[in-house]
Amino acid sequence: MKDNLIIPNHIGIIMDGNGRWAQERGLPRTMGHQHAVGTLKKLCIYMADCGVKYCSLYAFSTENFKRELSEVEFLMNLFISSFRKEFDFIKEKKVRVLFSGRREPLPEKVLEAMDELVEDTKDNKALTLNICLNYGSHAEIVDTTKKICEWYREGKIALGDITEDFIQKNLYQDLPPLDFVIRTSGELRLSNFMMYQASYAEFYFPKVYFPDFSCEEFDKAILEFNNRNRRFGGVK
Ligand code: FPP
Repeated sequence: MKDNLIIPNHIGIIMDGNGRWAQERGLPRTMGHQHAVGTLKKLCIYMADCGVKYCSLYAFSTENFKRELSEVEFLMNLFISSFRKEFDFIKEKKVRVLFSGRREPLPEKVLEAMDELVEDTKDNKALTLNICLNYGSHAEIVDTTKKICEWYREGKIALGDITEDFIQKNLYQDLPPLDFVIRTSGELRLSNFMMYQASYAEFYFPKVYFPDFSCEEFDKAILEFNNRNRRFGGVK
């Protein structure tokens, strides 16, 4: 990474193209997901070294349950093994892991591995990794609205307390807004990923499939971010 570059405070990554990466090599789609774990591990270590403060990863959407059962089962087992074995770098790099998404209908073993990771890393102060698993932005807005209505009904909050900032803080996780969203594989969509948080983010769509998204590709993305002129609706 070149010196003097601004590192976005909160980066979102939509890890797309695992299936195509595998299919183009004559491999089953699941091998793309398997390979993506190695890519993700290197990337997280690199982001921690570069001083990235927050990174949200789109690991599994609420809609991904519509995939073939064998692929869903493969992914669930991959999450368990990754959280238990591959995420060995989090201790040394002081990474704090959070999850965003609905717990239902995730299998109990996945939930246990997630909860352990959150508990084991809760005091870490470097990179915060927010893993969006069984996540959908629409579901998040519905769940948050219900939670706030309940507080209002119980008299815990007044209508005047409900501000834009209040909603942002009471989504699945209290995180700063996204500054930069990267979606690999050349697809130009948000696909229900952190819509509320991404309202003023810059977007970047590299052509590479996620398993090939190396640290050099990450550097290119940061360089591109530094060439953007962020106006937040005003004039600069
Ligand atoms: C999208 O590619 C990718 C996913 C639905 C799964 C993402 C999972 C990983 C990167 C595995 C590791 C993650 C963690 C958190 C341990 P796709 O299958 O839609 O690719 P395609 O568009 O080419 O079909």
